[in-house]
Order: sequence, then C-alpha cells, then structure tokens
Amino acid sequence: MLNFSFQNSTRIHFGEGQISKISNEIPKDAKVLLIYGGGSIKKNGVYQQVSDALAQHTWFEFSGIEPNPTYDTLMKAQQIIKEQGIDYLLAVGGGSVVDGAKFIAAAALFEGDDCWDILAKQQPVKKALPLGAVLTLPATGSESNGNSVVTRDGNKLAFSSPLVCPLFAVLDPSITLSLSDRQISNGVVDAFIHIMEQYLTYPVDAMVQDRFAEGLLLTLIEEGPKALAAQSKDDLVVRANIMWSATMALNGLIGAGVPQDWSSHMIGHELTGAFGIDHARTLSIVLPAVMKVQRIQKRAKLLQYAQRVWQITEGDDDTRINRAIELTEAFFKEMALPTRLSQVDLGLADVELLLEKLQQHGMTSLGEHGDIDLETSCQILMQAL
Ligand code: NZQ
Ligand code: ZN
Repeated sequence: MLNFSFQNSTRIHFGEGQISKISNEIPKDAKVLLIYGGGSIKKNGVYQQVSDALAQHTWFEFSGIEPNPTYDTLMKAQQIIKEQGIDYLLAVGGGSVVDGAKFIAAAALFEGDDCWDILAKQQPVKKALPLGAVLTLPATGSESNGNSVVTRDGNKLAFSSPLVCPLFAVLDPSITLSLSDRQISNGVVDAFIHIMEQYLTYPVDAMVQDRFAEGLLLTLIEEGPKALAAQSKDDLVVRANIMWSATMALNGLIGAGVPQDWSSHMIGHELTGAFGIDHARTLSIVLPAVMKVQRIQKRAKLLQYAQRVWQITEGDDDTRINRAIELTEAFFKEMALPTRLSQVDLGLADVELLLEKLQQHGMTSLGEHGDIDLETSCQILMQAL
C-alpha cells in the first residue's frame, strides 16, 4: 500500500426526511445563499422542504446553474453575494450545482486578479465561503469531496481544494425518484467509472481498498439496472444503495494509498467541452477503449477484476480479460449508455480536435504511469470509434 493521509470531514445526513437537518447545520445568524439549477427542485418538492428547513434563517437564492456549469453563469452569483453580505452557501442539486457552488465559494474570497486562474492556472484556493449540500442526483461524489469542474468556451477544467469540501451533505434517496432514466443511468455509470479509475491500475497490496472497490462495483452492477426496471423503479432500497455507493466511490476512501488513473475522465472532459456530451456518456465510451489499449499495463488488475467482479475463472489470461471488457460494455449497454463514438455521432474527423484540446490543456501524460501521451490518447479514441 502507498503512504497516505486521509480526512473526509463532510457530515452526512442520510435517509428520508433528512433535509430538515439543515436548519441546525447552518448557523442561525448566517446569511445563506441557496444555489440551484434549472428548477427540478421546484417540481419534486425539494425546494419547499429546503425553504421550510430555512424558516429561521435569512436567505437568498441564485438559480440557473446548468449541467456542466459555466464560468459565466457562476460569476453572476458574485453580485448577490457582495450586495447581501452572504456568508454561507447551500447547494441543492446534482454534481453541476454542487461543483458550481464550490467555484462560487472560492471565487467570492479569491484575492487574485482573475477567478478563472483558479482553474486555468491552478492558483491555490486560500479561502472560501462555507458550503453545505443537498444532493439530488447520485453520481459525482461532489457532495463530500473538494473537486469542482467548470466549463468556459468549450474548455472544461477542474480544481480541487479541501476548503470547498461541503461541511455537510443531505442524501435523501427519495429525492432521486424524480430523476429521468437518462440521469439515473448517467449517475450509476459515472460512479462505476470513478471506482474503476482508482481500482483498475496495478496492484499495491491494498486489500481493503480493493475489496471496498469491488463491493461498490458489484453493488452498482446489481442495483443499477433495477433503478431502470419498471417493477423496481420506485424501490427506495435500490435508490439508497445506489446513492451511498456513488458517495463512497469518490469521497477519498477507496483512493487512499492506491495509484489512480483518471485518463478516461480527462479524455471525457474534452468530449463534453467540445461536443456537449453528457459526462457519464463520455466515460462509457472512453473507459472500454482505455481497458483495451492499456491491457498490458493493467493486466494484473484486469485479471483480478475479471475474477472477483465478473466471476470469470475459465480460459487463459487474454480470454478472461477480453470477457471482462465485454461484460463491462454489456453493463453500460444495459444501463442504456453508448460505448462507441459513432453512437454519439462522432467519428474519425473529430479525433484531431480532441487531441488538440488535450494538448492545449496539458493532458499529455495521463494514467497511473503517466504513459498515456497524445499518441496513446489517439489510439484510445480510434479504438472507441
Ligand atoms: O438543473 P436541474 O433542474 O436541477 O436538473 C438537473 C440537470 O438537468 C437534473 N436533476 C438533478 N437532480 C434531479 C434532476 N431532475 C429530476 N430530479 C432530480 N432529483 O439532472 C440534470 C443533470 O444534473 P447534473 O448536476 O449536471 O448531473 P451530475 O450530477 O451528473 O453532474 C455532472 C457534473 O459533475 C461533474 C461533471 O463533469 C459534470 O460537470 N463532475 C464532478 C465531479 C466531482 N465534483 O468530484 C467528478 C465527476 O467525475 C464529474 O466530472
Ligand atoms: Zn465522473
């Protein structure tokens, strides 16, 4: 196992009815900015529950954060923060809203000239407004990590700071019943691939992290399709297990002390930035291609994955690895996600632009060995055609 330091300080309130807990989480004298997206929270009753919980507080609201939140939209929040003296942010939504609120929190107290430098130049975040979250879409893990992804002019960039990690997060699985099938699928597969990015590298004798990761993968493989099936769609047990899996997938626990990959995400961000493809759909296309192109480097872990996650014990090593990749793709298909660029109307002609963007963003030595250079990314994208 590699050396590590681990802390996750987000207090989680999990279960039905837990939104009421925010009233005690946020100091009563705080001036709160409720931040949300396009309005799903008004249709499913979450806005009302949050308003009730904030009855004793002074609060304002900022809405309109779009999926893959943009810099321009997020910067508009600074005006109300200054005018009203806001000193606490409450994000209510999916990963985009939580990520957006994190950037707003950092930008509000940023002392540099240009807030975009937090992303483009990775300028360190030295201060940020405190932040809480009510998660409505299990997927990103943003509710209990310090990561945020922001888009500007087709450039999708990330920053990370413990200062923007939510102080608390409410996870009520019943809120997820209003999700569309598309968002359910996206969420399950995004969480699945977060686990893979931290698991499918090379062995470092991290037994606990490996077994946790495999347990989470098995849970998503078992429960994900149930959340789409007519007879189990409204099953809160299914939703609860998906929701907790997605949080555990990217709260730092399974990634502590192990090598990490993240190449599927970095290549995927270019697909979203350039072509607007949903985050999870970029991953379901890129990951199988990464597994194929990097099969030598990932050989030992691919065999472990084949045996422990897919129970493949027959055949020689190559046969088992091929079967594990096939079953991974079959799972993404079962979740109604694409596994090829052609399924999202992209082809050979688009590969060049993606490679240019990877270069522009310094994504030229990706993966757990840093050996995915532009040529290897090209092979991955060609493999995904
Ligand atoms: O905006 P509203 O109206 O709320 O609708 C949203 C949005 O249209 C809707 N939705 C959310 N909860 C709902 C709901 N609709 C009905 N009922 C509910 N309960 O779903 C749509 C998509 O929401 P979004 O927040 O964009 O999805 P997701 O949670 O998948 O977040 C994706 C963003 O997170 C970033 C991605 O890059 C992308 O920008 N990521 C953040 C990470 C992190 N912070 O650690 C890691 C991830 O790898 C990822 O990169
Ligand atoms: Zn992701």
